Amino acid sequence: MPDDILKDIESEIIDSKEAAESFRVKYLGRKSGKITGMLKRIPEAPPQERKELGRRINEVKKQAEERLAAFQANLGKPDASGPQTSIDLTLPGRFPAPPGSIHPLTHTLNEISRVFEGFGFSIATGPEIETEWHNFTALNFPSDHPARDMQDTFFLEPDRVLLRTHTSPVQIRTLLTEPPPVRVIVPGRVYRNEAVSYKSYCLFHQVEGLYVDEGVTFADLKQVLRLFVQALFGADARMRFRPSFFPFTEPSAEVDIWWADEALPGNGRWLEILGCGMVDPNVFDAVDLDSERWTGYAFGMGIERIAMLRYGIRDIRTFYENDIRFLEQF
Ligand code: DAH
Repeated sequence: MPDDILKDIESEIIDSKEAAESFRVKYLGRKSGKITGMLKRIPEAPPQERKELGRRINEVKKQAEERLAAFQANLGKPDASGPQTSIDLTLPGRFPAPPGSIHPLTHTLNEISRVFEGFGFSIATGPEIETEWHNFTALNFPSDHPARDMQDTFFLEPDRVLLRTHTSPVQIRTLLTEPPPVRVIVPGRVYRNEAVSYKSYCLFHQVEGLYVDEGVTFADLKQVLRLFVQALFGADARMRFRPSFFPFTEPSAEVDIWWADEALPGNGRWLEILGCGMVDPNVFDAVDLDSERWTGYAFGMGIERIAMLRYGIRDIRTFYENDIRFLEQF
């Protein structure tokens, strides 16, 4: 009996003064209240059960009184007439938001930019959708150069507009808008129509560098890249300049760094990290600068390659899959 009444009490909704009063009369009323009635009937029970019965009825009575008291305590508060809630808005959240992390490519780009900013370079940017003239022609690519082929370049409609295949066109844009001396680096995204594999992807990132002034020499270029390699790979990093060819620089070189690895025969190998050279006079001609007066150097490097080396990443595609398990390690 007391248990049945307890269930009734729990299911009652007390949301107004009227409801509270009828609750009180129904359970605790002196004449016909259910609990009062039960208390009155205790003497009818067998003597040995009376004590226990009385204890249980009193517990139920206490519950009923507490419900009434709780309603009365909330009376006059703003939400007293609304549903009875117990949300404490001052408590801290139950699931702390996991902190994000900086993408390894962004991290590498920022680090490279910071090194060159320390050398006095400023940051320049250009569009990812380029004209064929900025991307190839002004950079002294002959009209039959294989890089212009549909195999390597994503051409867009209308024709002669493409997704830039390198950051070098920003050399042209910079020289067209800023009179020398200029000293800029260009971090950015580039696109190539390549078969996707662990080592190549249809898009990647480069940092371009350009310095144009009077009397710039290859020795200046060697020195700035040597300092850069030391800043990024450590003071005892080994590097070498290897003769190479690019249409927009003459002479041109590639820079390799020595990658020590106990597992390799010879305990390491040379890895190419960037291309560079002295700005070709034809490039100055294309932007109407006097190639007898101005000299300069340029360099360009792939960010994915450098990030893969530094973090020991073996598959370039992992940079673009946005797998949380990969990203949260950085
Ligand atoms: N643009 C070249 C590439 O995408 C990289 C490069 C080489 C940039 C030599 C330069 C440079 O500025 O001087 O492969």
